[in-house]
Amino acid sequence: MAGSRLRQLEEEVRRCTRCPLHATRTHAVPGEGPGEAGVMVVGEAPGRMEDRLGRPFVGPAGKLLDSLLELAGLSRGEVYITNVVKCRPPGNRDPREEEIEACLPYLVEQISLIRPRLVIAVGRHAGRTLFRLAGLRWPGLARARGRVWRGRIGGVELLIAVTYHPAAALYNPGLRGELERDFSGFIRRSVAEALSRG
Ligand code: URA
Repeated sequence: MAGSRLRQLEEEVRRCTRCPLHATRTHAVPGEGPGEAGVMVVGEAPGRMEDRLGRPFVGPAGKLLDSLLELAGLSRGEVYITNVVKCRPPGNRDPREEEIEACLPYLVEQISLIRPRLVIAVGRHAGRTLFRLAGLRWPGLARARGRVWRGRIGGVELLIAVTYHPAAALYNPGLRGELERDFSGFIRRSVAEALSRG
């Protein structure tokens, strides 16, 4: 059953030693949510709170994400939330290419098992990675935002929506309005389109 393989995969992530990040993490953060979900959210990498608790988006960026999901008509419990990289990079530095590479098979298998119809990529790293997996040319965050893209990842046909990372709005409050517009606008419409497709 897909659900039991997903839980087994989450356990594998918790024990993972595929890249050097395992040596500095407190907890790996596989992701959480229903075993089959119409919508998946993909962030960059765990931060300090996530590393401490082993759960995705539980710090300040996570609180903002919860309210943004509501603007899109979603509650946190109905989406699967994960990250491109499952362990915290020291000091929250950007993940390195080789760390992303080592971790990607987990994300691809999560997508194959969860079979989301829509993936919401928050931030440049998540957007760029999902485009690469879907075989789409990455046009940069500014151009990727504002519309929905179609792709196939891990054998699953899906829609991809890209927006800023919620953490960016914590450093640059001007971005909060943009994020709210994205979640209540094109992302809300993408959710409706994705969930209406049978
Ligand atoms: N930022 C992310 O990209 N992911 C988390 O889980 C938390 C903060």
